[in-house]
Amino acid sequence: MDISIDTAAVMADLDAIAACSSSPPPGVTRILYSAADMGARAYLRARCAEAGLDLREDGLGNLFARWPGSAPDLPAVASGSHIDAIPDSGRYDGTVGVVGALEAIRALKRAGFAPRRSIELLLFTAEEPTRFGIGCLGSRALCGALTPARLRDLRDAAGRSLEELRAEAGFHAPLEDVQLPAGLYHAFVELHIEQGPLLETEGLPIGVVRAIAAPASLRVSLRGVGGHAGAVLMPGRRDALLAAAEIALAVERAALSTGSPDTVATTGVLRIEPSAVNSIPSAATLEIDVRDIADEPRDAALHAIREAAVEICERRIIAYTLDMLNADPPATCAPAVIEAAVRACAELGLHYQMMVSRAYHDSLFMARICPTTMIFIPCRGGVSHRPDELSSPEQIAAGVAVLARSLAALSLA
Ligand code: GLV
Ligand code: MN
Ligand code: MN
Repeated sequence: MDISIDTAAVMADLDAIAACSSSPPPGVTRILYSAADMGARAYLRARCAEAGLDLREDGLGNLFARWPGSAPDLPAVASGSHIDAIPDSGRYDGTVGVVGALEAIRALKRAGFAPRRSIELLLFTAEEPTRFGIGCLGSRALCGALTPARLRDLRDAAGRSLEELRAEAGFHAPLEDVQLPAGLYHAFVELHIEQGPLLETEGLPIGVVRAIAAPASLRVSLRGVGGHAGAVLMPGRRDALLAAAEIALAVERAALSTGSPDTVATTGVLRIEPSAVNSIPSAATLEIDVRDIADEPRDAALHAIREAAVEICERRIIAYTLDMLNADPPATCAPAVIEAAVRACAELGLHYQMMVSRAYHDSLFMARICPTTMIFIPCRGGVSHRPDELSSPEQIAAGVAVLARSLAALSLA
């Protein structure tokens, strides 16, 4: 079958979505349920409808765009990713997997392919943890790992609830209906930029993912005593920021102490109150991201961070709460789906390597409900979560070609 990828169409889709941003180019910021997010969703809905797909959205805004196969009752083959983007990041993370899946479907249609199993594009709500502190919100809920009760408890940094925000965005369907029924999908394949340097270094166009690392995140809330920066003398101060600063250093020490070179830990959020130059910080919130490709060293680092935080807060007489937002096990990809991707590479004459994903993805959760793998393409310098993130049109087209062939083969299986 001759499947030709319309690279210009993919790049036009990427451009249109990158224009939906609340920060100036080249940076992209697309926070869940913001005007930028809603604009990008509207664009994609229109493209999916134009491609003749049947659309469904759930109460969180997860979007399902289906191309019915000749055996519509068989479990479908799915592909997709996210379009939300962390503050001042790039235009490829996630979005390549969404517009790539859309183009894979359009290309298969143009080639006259007749799917047996339906092929479905998934747009996951909020893979990034920016708004609610927890990554993979949509896919977590789809696979039942986030219950309606926990979803109802979620508040953003401004204190606004998920319930309120999703209603404002027009998503009213019951949260009870978000979890997918068992056996809905035969396979899931996510196309994504690598977000690391290995493919570029090796000069390879494709990575096929065999496992996804174990992420965790921890929120530490500190309350000290504020006061006048000039009038309160140093002895006896209970400065919440200084406790936070010590904790951030303990996070670095913890990551370096597990004995595993794969342990990484980052204090990516530090908010202080009242945040005025002449006022002693009375409160601080840290959000800490801890990962390893195995969960034991990751958990050892988490334990060390907790112990350090307790010691620091007791010594500085700071009230604290530690909330483990998530601590997910790693995912193993499915041999049959990996095989489909590997065969697609062979048919296209593209060299590939098997890889572990150090970043997390919606695939981490899709792997819990169906056989899953990911297709990686190189990105310049391995750079991601930055405005200068870049994959070339040719690199993207190669990934879409592998995805299209993989979906076709899995649809006939
Ligand atoms: C996903 O964006 C991640 O942080 O791995
Ligand atoms: Mn990301
Ligand atoms: Mn991503």
